[in-house]
Amino acid sequence: MIPNIHYSELKDSYLFRRIAEKTAAWQQEHPGEYLYRMGIGDVTLPLCPAVIRALHEAVDDQAEKKTFHGYMPECGDPTLRETIAAYYRRLGVELKAEEVFVSSGASDELGDILDLFGRDKTVAIPEPAYPAYVDANIMAGNRILHIPSGRESMFLPMPDPDMDADIYYICSPNNPTGAVYRKDQLKEWVDFVRRKDGLILFDAAYESFIEEEDIPHSIFEIPGAESCAIEICSLSKTAGFTGTRCGYTVIPEALERGGMNLNRMWVRNRTTKTNGVSYIIQRGAAAVFTEEGQEQIRQNIKVYKQNAVRLMKALDRCGVKYTGGRNAPYIWAECPHGTGSWEFFDLLLNRCHVVATPGEGFGSCGEGYIRFSVFGTPEDTEEAAQRIEQFLNN
Ligand code: MLT
Repeated sequence: MIPNIHYSELKDSYLFRRIAEKTAAWQQEHPGEYLYRMGIGDVTLPLCPAVIRALHEAVDDQAEKKTFHGYMPECGDPTLRETIAAYYRRLGVELKAEEVFVSSGASDELGDILDLFGRDKTVAIPEPAYPAYVDANIMAGNRILHIPSGRESMFLPMPDPDMDADIYYICSPNNPTGAVYRKDQLKEWVDFVRRKDGLILFDAAYESFIEEEDIPHSIFEIPGAESCAIEICSLSKTAGFTGTRCGYTVIPEALERGGMNLNRMWVRNRTTKTNGVSYIIQRGAAAVFTEEGQEQIRQNIKVYKQNAVRLMKALDRCGVKYTGGRNAPYIWAECPHGTGSWEFFDLLLNRCHVVATPGEGFGSCGEGYIRFSVFGTPEDTEEAAQRIEQFLNN
C-alpha cells in the first residue's frame, strides 16, 4: 500500500513547528533567559468574563439530567447560527441561519473544506500566505498557482486576466502582511472570479481588527459574492479562543457549481464527518456576540492594538518599512540591510531574545521580511520594542 504520496512534497515540518523547535533548542542552551514571543499569533489575554460565565453555566448544565446535552447538531446550535447571522446584519449582509456553520476553528475548516472540491483542482494562492493554505492543498493533491506579491502592490495582488484557477484564496486583513483590501479591490476580485466560474475561499479571521472605513469585514459585503464565495472565520483572535476552539463558516444557499449546491454538500459533509462542536464551547461562543461580550472583546483588542502602536513607533524610529499593524494584529517589516529572513530571525533571537516569524516561511516572496505578532502582553511588547530599537539603531 502506498499512502498519500503528496506528503512527500511537503517541507519537512510546518512553519510554526519549526520555529517552536528552534526556540525550544535556544531556550535549552540558555536556561533562565526570558524570551519575548512575537512569533505565532497566539493570544495572551484570558477569555472575557461574559464568556467565562457562560462556560461555567454550560458545565453546570451538563451536571443535571434536565439540562444535559449529548450530541449537538452537526452544523451548529440553531440559536448560535442565528446569532452569527444577526452579527452579519451590522454590515448590511443578510444571511439565513442555515448559511452559517459553527466550526472548531478556521485552521481546521480551511483544510476540511477542500473535501467539497475533490482532487486535482487548481488553487490560486496569493503569497506571502498563511502556510496552511499551501500545505493543505499539497496534501489534497491540488495544483498550486502561487501568486507572488511585494511592496510594489503593497502586498495586495489583483487578478490578472491570464490567471486560471478553480479556487482563489483571499485573506483580508492579511496574515502575514497585515495588508487590507478596500471594497473596490475586493469587487474586482469578485467580478473576476465570477467571470471565471471559480470560487473564492475568503479568510476573515482578522476582521475584528479593522478600524478604517471602507475596508470590508466580510466578502459578502460585495455584491455578487453570494454566488462565488465561502467565508471562513474564527473566534481565536477576535475573542481569544485559540485554545478554546470555535469558529464559523458561511456558505450561501445560492452557491452552486456544476449543478451542485455547495451549502447542501457541506451539510452532507458535516453530518457525516463531525458530531458538532461541544455544547459547552458553543455556549461560550454565543456569549461573544452579546452586547456585554462585544464590549469586553473590544477592550481586549484595544490592548493588542496598543501593542501594535508601540512596535510601529519603534520601527518608525529606526526607519524600517512595514505594512500592517493598523487593521491587523501583524506587522510585516523589511529586514534591514538586505538580511535574509531566517538570518534576521536568528539575530532577533540571539541579540534581543525576541521570537518573530521569518517571512520566507510564508512563501519565497516573503524572503527579506519578518512578521511580528502583537498578541503579547503590553509589558513584553514594551521591552521587546525597546530591545529591537536599540539593536537596529546600533
Ligand atoms: C499565525 O501566527 O499565523 C496564526 O496564529 C496561525 C493560526 O491561526 O493557526
